[in-house]
Amino acid sequence: MRFDRFDTLVVGSGLAGLTFALKASAFGRVCVLTKAEITDNNTNWAQGGIAAAVGESDDWHLHEEDTLVAGAGLCDPAAVRFLVQRAPEAIDWLRGLGARFDLELGREGGHSRNRIVHHADRTGWEVERAVSEAVRRDPNITVLENAFVTRLLRHGGRVVGLAAHLGDAGLRGYLARAVLLATGGCGKLYSHTTNPRVATADGIGLASGVGAEIRDMEFMQFHPTTLSHPQRSGFLITEAVRGAGGTLRNHRGRRFMYDYDDRLELAPRDVVARAIESELKRLETWCVYLDTTHLSPERLRHEFPTIWDALRGLGIEMEKDWVPIVPAQHYSCGGVVTDLEARTSVPGLYASGEVARTGVHGANRLASNSLLEAIVFSTSAAEAVAREQEPVVEEAALDLSPPHCPLEGETIPIRHTLQRTMGGGLGVFRTTAGMEAARTKVAELTAHFDSLPGAEFSAYSREAHNLLVAAKYVVEGALARRENVGLHFNADLPDPAAAGPAPRA
Ligand code: SIN
Repeated sequence: MRFDRFDTLVVGSGLAGLTFALKASAFGRVCVLTKAEITDNNTNWAQGGIAAAVGESDDWHLHEEDTLVAGAGLCDPAAVRFLVQRAPEAIDWLRGLGARFDLELGREGGHSRNRIVHHADRTGWEVERAVSEAVRRDPNITVLENAFVTRLLRHGGRVVGLAAHLGDAGLRGYLARAVLLATGGCGKLYSHTTNPRVATADGIGLASGVGAEIRDMEFMQFHPTTLSHPQRSGFLITEAVRGAGGTLRNHRGRRFMYDYDDRLELAPRDVVARAIESELKRLETWCVYLDTTHLSPERLRHEFPTIWDALRGLGIEMEKDWVPIVPAQHYSCGGVVTDLEARTSVPGLYASGEVARTGVHGANRLASNSLLEAIVFSTSAAEAVAREQEPVVEEAALDLSPPHCPLEGETIPIRHTLQRTMGGGLGVFRTTAGMEAARTKVAELTAHFDSLPGAEFSAYSREAHNLLVAAKYVVEGALARRENVGLHFNADLPDPAAAGPAPRA
């Protein structure tokens, strides 16, 4: 196998990966490996924005308090403070790269102030544009597209590089002083998700392969308002629409949040998602509605152009029609455990962005804290790596065996069954029996995957492996959690009220 050497390696090209690359390039040569194209990532899809206490009546203590409340007592307070104090600086950095933001700050659920820095409803696209243009201009950064990382390479207990499959070039090795995982989330565990097709838990699969600590995966966030339409399943309707005054109604027209929580539509996400699911069950219907018909058409078109256009393409007019919505998987709050400098439990390996469990989200992430988290922790990771004195190792004695890759066609039913299993047993509402059935099914699917004969490398098939690994963490974490907190709700636990709303009588 041929080896290339860099100072640092980055897996993933969303905001976490590219921020790290830009910061680390000041200290050495960086290689970014991304399994698709540089713009194929979740950042690009983010509508809402970036939370930062930059408004006149705001300060970081309030942002801190809101984050802790949303996290339902399970946040790491030091990580939260680290995050919110650095938010204004993160926004300045993005502006310095040319990112354009609207003058008005937006509002989202769980925030006590208007503090969402945004670019209409396409903030992720704007941020990724600015950051990826800066990456392309940087001579110290190499970007390898269509490079699927198959394993992390270890030497003397340390991660010293990785192996990747690069199309016709086949398997190649890369060595560096440090590796950052910035692979994003695991939305493809579910059939209903706001995530793009690349969100297949690859970082969880890689980190698990070298024994890194992974935690809190049971805290799977379901976004309350995604479009219920056969042609655009999982299309996000940003929470900022509710921040602008959008209300939720059931099919009888009742503004049902009055029955669940005093904060109404701007309660934290877990509360709103559970309220919607309760209504769907209670009324035996398949969707509820987001009503924006009382808002000015000019404001809707101006503030939410992406949503306006997408809905119009489907014949839905926001200023006249109620928008049919359901909750869908959106974000994994758990992941690879990291410290304030994004170090994992394995020396040489760092993680940032959705793949990481920094401690800032606790049992439920506050809206618009994720892009912020990616910038803040990728920055501190780059500073930490700059201080690392480890030399790049020689290539002897590394495990370079190719990954187990069954035929792609054999893994299609595995992925489909896995999605059905996770949606059934590990959704917004869970039961002990449902989670136990999911545990059995995930084990069966994993054994089946492992028993299939190996074939040529296939990214799709490797993704199935990574999804199966992540599913096990979600199921085991959920079964081990003995209280209803934040995003985890087991209807069989004795005090379901502890998890928030049950419909008022
Ligand atoms: C949204 O715009 O509602 C999503 C923002 C986020 O997930 O933080």
